Amino acid sequence: MANRAAVILAAGQGTRMRSSLPKVLHPVGGRSMVDWSIALAQAVGCERIVVVCSASGQRVQDHVAEVLGSDAIAIQDPPMGTGHAVQSAEQKLAGFDGELVVLYGDTPLIPASAIEALFQELGAGATVGVLGFHAAEPGSYGRLITDAAGNLDAIVEAKDATDEQRAVSFCNSGVMAAASKDMFQLLGQVTNENAKKEYYLTDIVGLARSAGGTCRAVTCDEEDVLGVNSRVELAEAESVFQAKRRQELLAAGVTMIAPDTVFLTHDTVIEIDVTLEPHVVFGPNVIVKSGAKVRAFSHLEGAQVGNDCEIGPYVRLRPGAVLEQGAKIGNFVEVKNTTMGEGAKANHLAYLGDGEVGAGANIGAGTIFCNYDGFLKYTTKVGAGAFVGSNSALVAPVTIGDGAYVGSGSVITKDVEANALAVARGRQMQKAGWATAFRDKMAAIKAAKKKG
Ligand code: UD1
Ligand code: CA
Repeated sequence: MANRAAVILAAGQGTRMRSSLPKVLHPVGGRSMVDWSIALAQAVGCERIVVVCSASGQRVQDHVAEVLGSDAIAIQDPPMGTGHAVQSAEQKLAGFDGELVVLYGDTPLIPASAIEALFQELGAGATVGVLGFHAAEPGSYGRLITDAAGNLDAIVEAKDATDEQRAVSFCNSGVMAAASKDMFQLLGQVTNENAKKEYYLTDIVGLARSAGGTCRAVTCDEEDVLGVNSRVELAEAESVFQAKRRQELLAAGVTMIAPDTVFLTHDTVIEIDVTLEPHVVFGPNVIVKSGAKVRAFSHLEGAQVGNDCEIGPYVRLRPGAVLEQGAKIGNFVEVKNTTMGEGAKANHLAYLGDGEVGAGANIGAGTIFCNYDGFLKYTTKVGAGAFVGSNSALVAPVTIGDGAYVGSGSVITKDVEANALAVARGRQMQKAGWATAFRDKMAAIKAAKKKG
């Protein structure tokens, strides 16, 4: 297999997003669009990836530098079209002699299989492979003009097309591949004599044909190549992503009672025989292991849910929540940076932050791990088999020993020994008949006031 590289175009202004955040940094499925394209390039084995940024796109440049290193940034200044954009990456690809695919920072949903198919066309002898789709509304897309044998003759931009060409609904996604030496050699011949006075990448098809080469179009679904220019299209892309991920999980053996109400991210891992009730939201970096049940209206991010756990309804798992096998977290419990040991339970109304809860421990309703003093965070440890009575405040740093009991309503500030009982609350007292005497006295005072 030839070496592979990718050029990702991201020098556009993205003004239609109406956003202070650059377009390609907006997320789809919890991952920025440019990161989707980077991940795609990596998935098809590109050993070199160059992202073309505008000179003013400092935030995009910073992001790419962080993800891939500053060597991966090419600056296009000023932007003069898609062909010119690819040319701007030539220096950064010095010494590379393999196959090159052009991707876009605003087209996040392309499957790796489509890119593989393009490379296959090169392997089979094509000079240029282009990813096309049948558009419901061809509008301003470039049209793919094919001959009787299905080879690609030319790409004609809508603005430059004849009426007959405009009637073609087979459209250019923009994604194309060629051997890098062919790509740059052809781009060197592209002129800007067209309606937009731009250097079009699409012109390399006609140029390759004139030089006697063949070009091939590979077809994919329109939704795979959805490009995002506005918030409406961003929401569309999100919706396509969600629908795909849900289908994949259902096919892989996850039960969802109302799939359309479950929201996933690009990295959500849900194993077989997990049940997801309606209205569950996954933020980044969640693993739910086999046999677990996530009940309705729960929100999870950065969390691990072990085998056969049951969580929810109305649970919030925040980063660092780790539930070992069979743990149970019930309604209105928030767990952050806390491990719940095997079979441990917190069934109602609690905040468990920065804690370690041992196997089989039981955390009562209303328990709070008081982990923060306004400056630093501290750890609460609850031993295996311990029982924390309802409405207790455990003021960290503090350790409740294995098997210990904490009386309800306690404010625990000191460590509790294993198997001990700690009670830290006002002692109960009783005055017999006090209430009757109080009522009689107050009724008399009120009656006297009315008379007077
Ligand atoms: C381009 C294609 C068109 C295709 C369509 C698919 C060309 C000439 N036309 O048209 O055939 O149907 O995409 O969406 O290629 N960019 C740069 N630098 C530039 C110009 C563009 O980085 O100088 C980037 C933009 O950020 C954008 C992408 O390239 O992400 C496409 O550019 P755009 O100007 O939107 O091309 P279209 O006119 O949509
Ligand atoms: Ca466009």
